[in-house]
Amino acid sequence: MEKKQKKQQNYLHSDFYIRRIHSLLGIIPIGIFLCFHLFMNSSAIIGVEAWAAVIDGMRSIPFVIVAEIGIIAIPFIFHIVYGLYIVYFSKMNMKYQYYRNWMFILQRITAIITTIFVIEHVVFVRIMTASTMDVMTAMAHVVQTPLGFVLELIGVWASVFHFSNGIFTFLITWGILQGERLQKLFSILTMLLCAGMFLWTLIILIRIAMMPI
Ligand code: HEM
Repeated sequence: MEKKQKKQQNYLHSDFYIRRIHSLLGIIPIGIFLCFHLFMNSSAIIGVEAWAAVIDGMRSIPFVIVAEIGIIAIPFIFHIVYGLYIVYFSKMNMKYQYYRNWMFILQRITAIITTIFVIEHVVFVRIMTASTMDVMTAMAHVVQTPLGFVLELIGVWASVFHFSNGIFTFLITWGILQGERLQKLFSILTMLLCAGMFLWTLIILIRIAMMPI
């Protein structure tokens, strides 16, 4: 038996708790942070001043760096590292064209796109910026070019799809979503959530692209 196949089998039988932690972290804190992040940046829809005031407020929270590392960065790094391990050992079954099979594959593809997007976003918008103005210009300069806008949209789509479909698989993983009718309902609800979050972020990005900065 091939080495990767053997590992795949071992991995399916072991890693139960670590997989549960990975799953939980996808919602708390990462999913909650994603919603909070979109909510706070919705202020850009109102205008430059409102957006600047919100960024200023977030940057001036006492010990914000400690919270960012402890509550967001460490859980995120765990989710990404173990997530990449899961992607590597996943059996991509392309033979069967079932809807859930496609969602399984898309969850893994969006995991990889989101990894690249989040690293780019953190480096250019958080680490390499020293002031609120830096943050705003970093974001504006990306979305003010057609290529930057499209790449940003791809990153946003991957993140919100991964989160929305992740809510569905999370509920399955934890045994909350039982029964075919309930699963169908949640399948639709989570995709509506994905569409809603994507359109909302699209409006935010268009507003930022139009800003005179
Ligand atoms: C926007 C940031 C992210 C959020 C909100 C998020 C959230 C979630 C949620 C809620 C799940 C479902 C857990 C379950 O099925 O029990 C999940 C699954 C997964 N996530 Fe993430 N995630 C994010 C980013 C990433 C990144 C960057 C990776 C990179 C590898 C990743 C890899 C995975 C993988 C592989 C799964 C499938 C796990 C499985 O099928 O057991 N995620 N994520």
